[in-house]
Amino acid sequence: MKKTLLFAAAMTASLVSVAQTRLTKDNIDQVIASMTLEEKATLLVGGSQPLPDSSIPTATSAKVPGAAGNTRAIPRFGIPVTVLSDGPAGVRIQPTRQGDSNTYYCTAFPVGTSMASSWDLDLMERVTVAMGQEVLEYGVDVLLAPGMNIHRSPLCGRNFEYFSEDPLLSGKMAAAYTKGIQSNGVGVSIKHFMANNQETNRNEDDAQISQRALREIYLKNFEIAVKEAQPWTVMSSYNKMNGKYTQQNRELLTTVLRDEWGFNGIVMTDWGNKAGTIIAVEAGNDLMCPGSPSEIQRIMDAVKNGTLSMEYVDTNVRRMLEYVLKTPAYANYKYSNKPDLKAHAALVREAGAECIVLLKNDGVLPLKGDENIALYGLGSYDFIAGGTGSGDVNKEYIRNIEDGLKGNGFKVNANIADLYTKYNSYAKALQAATGNGGSWFSRALVSEMEVPESVVARELPNSDIAVITIRRNSGEGADRTSAQGDFNLTAVERNLLECACDSYHAAGKKVVVVLNVGGVVETASWKNLPDAVVLAWQPGMEGGASVADVLCGKVNPSGKLPMSFPVSFFDTPSAVNFPYKVENNNNRRGPAVPRKNVDYTEYQEGIYVGYRYYETEGVEVSYPFGYGLSYTTFSYTKPVVKATADGFVATVTVTNTGKVAGKEAVQLYVSAPAGGLDKPATELKGFAKTKLLAPGESQVVTIAVDNYTLASFNEANSAWEAAAGTYKVNFAASVKDVRASAEYKLKAAKNWKVNNVLKPEVALAK
Ligand code: BGC
Repeated sequence: MKKTLLFAAAMTASLVSVAQTRLTKDNIDQVIASMTLEEKATLLVGGSQPLPDSSIPTATSAKVPGAAGNTRAIPRFGIPVTVLSDGPAGVRIQPTRQGDSNTYYCTAFPVGTSMASSWDLDLMERVTVAMGQEVLEYGVDVLLAPGMNIHRSPLCGRNFEYFSEDPLLSGKMAAAYTKGIQSNGVGVSIKHFMANNQETNRNEDDAQISQRALREIYLKNFEIAVKEAQPWTVMSSYNKMNGKYTQQNRELLTTVLRDEWGFNGIVMTDWGNKAGTIIAVEAGNDLMCPGSPSEIQRIMDAVKNGTLSMEYVDTNVRRMLEYVLKTPAYANYKYSNKPDLKAHAALVREAGAECIVLLKNDGVLPLKGDENIALYGLGSYDFIAGGTGSGDVNKEYIRNIEDGLKGNGFKVNANIADLYTKYNSYAKALQAATGNGGSWFSRALVSEMEVPESVVARELPNSDIAVITIRRNSGEGADRTSAQGDFNLTAVERNLLECACDSYHAAGKKVVVVLNVGGVVETASWKNLPDAVVLAWQPGMEGGASVADVLCGKVNPSGKLPMSFPVSFFDTPSAVNFPYKVENNNNRRGPAVPRKNVDYTEYQEGIYVGYRYYETEGVEVSYPFGYGLSYTTFSYTKPVVKATADGFVATVTVTNTGKVAGKEAVQLYVSAPAGGLDKPATELKGFAKTKLLAPGESQVVTIAVDNYTLASFNEANSAWEAAAGTYKVNFAASVKDVRASAEYKLKAAKNWKVNNVLKPEVALAK
């Protein structure tokens, strides 16, 4: 009896002392030692509420409605729920709450592709500093962003969320994004790590990629982001890569990510419960998201039956605790739910305009500002701010082009009122038919209203110029198609374009095309028709104003393409190994007979992605990588390359030689000496954007490149190798427009040995 009492007293004492053990940075070991197996397993599994519709594999946080998920609390250690919300073009939460008259709208910033077109890392950081304020002030701890998969094919349905076909541009953009968000004391989750380059069967597709293409293209951007910005978290992808789910691949998540690159945050899964929880724990995937009780049970069972060592569990728990300690939730931050939406809208307008790429201008732009514009195309009235799926931000409004033009003093459809009415009722009918833009996962339907030739002819005398918007949308869960209405124009769009150009040109008037798209579309067959082509992308909720600012010259366009625009989809190097056919574009799970490009995808093009292929093979493109016009011109003079201890510093003087102020994105391409590995003809190794240069003004642009960045991956030696010899250093306005050159001599070859891991299961091009 006495013994029992003593035991009970001891138990109470230990519970009291444990209960008083609030997690701090100094007692992590003690907390781990005190945690029960159930508590540990609980911390490794997200704790979100499943949505009522169980066919939707997502979840939402109870603390911040509409957030994608949360981690679980363990109150006796003061471990709070931490909230995870999408990304990447802004915070994605529910804008209204039951029984609450307040609203919780977020700012829809320009999409990733759009931001990358700025080639402006400072702008990216300014935008994400603002976005991060919304993360913090809405009670979120981690933004599930940036999306940074490589644009392997123009048809990946989520390319709009991602940055580029080039790993350096992608990695630098992701690093700037991470720095901006994390400067608010909240975290990011760079995603989707990795090889999630298609949406078709994204849960099961097995991307077979050579070690060289992995290292140089598909891992490189993540490597840059991790090393330069230390993101708090990384999101593993749904798909398999070289035979294994990425979330269950220890070589990927531990050997490469942590041991080689020095990542010290947590890895979370993308939003799905896969059977191999234990392998994921062992691989170093710390957090299962959105998290289901079955995963907690699996971890507990495996530890109990000896198939999972507690060491793996403790390693991941430690990282989770270190993560929790960084969060505003742990600090009990009193968020206001009142971020500065007004200031952010102004920033969106500015950033959206900075990202616009002027593809063609036969002198019609900038407009004078007082023209009477006939505005065609549904996108002029029902503008697309960003793509669909988890990347869709719940914003309060979208400024369309009509509003933007009027706000800039233009007369729009001044005597053409019924055009406006027709487009608006067409847009409403379309929205009703597609359930307000399509279901959560589906690609939003975008069809175009037919405008009879007689209407164009009738309105011609009433207008000075025609502006035609062509729009496209896509999103999570489905790839785009090579068909009309997606990559290619529809007959309705082409007819409108031809008919407007014929009539306006016959009357000595001009036609401007605005592309309101999330990714690449075919341009080669029609770009000769209009007088100007303005690639607006999906530039966020103030998009119409950004477009108008560029059309009237308030902003001089300085965006440049972060990917190549091929003549035809079938010119793209991955075309034969991509599920472009309409009938394949679904989210089906693998059947008994594996289907090429649905159940497995061979990256046979190796490192020859985008311009690396077009430039090396001499394949014509419609618009090259890095291309973009300005209302002014720039000269590049005095190219200098100076060797440093571990590479070189390149400088060039850029002078505004035109009549209006403007900015120039200077690109530095390097061609390697012959004799080493087989290399692309040229590769982007650095870039910098000038400040706004007044006419006649110059700026010396400085770009540093280290030898490691020059290296290619030699599979035979498992090493990065930079061959000795003379490297040609080209300062360029696009990959095809070299303006000045210099040389860099590497006296002795260099190499960096890494682990021989991540081997493909089939023979592939390197
Ligand atoms: C998407 C992720 C997203 C997550 C949470 C997944 O389906 O692939 O990008 O962050 O859902 O919404």
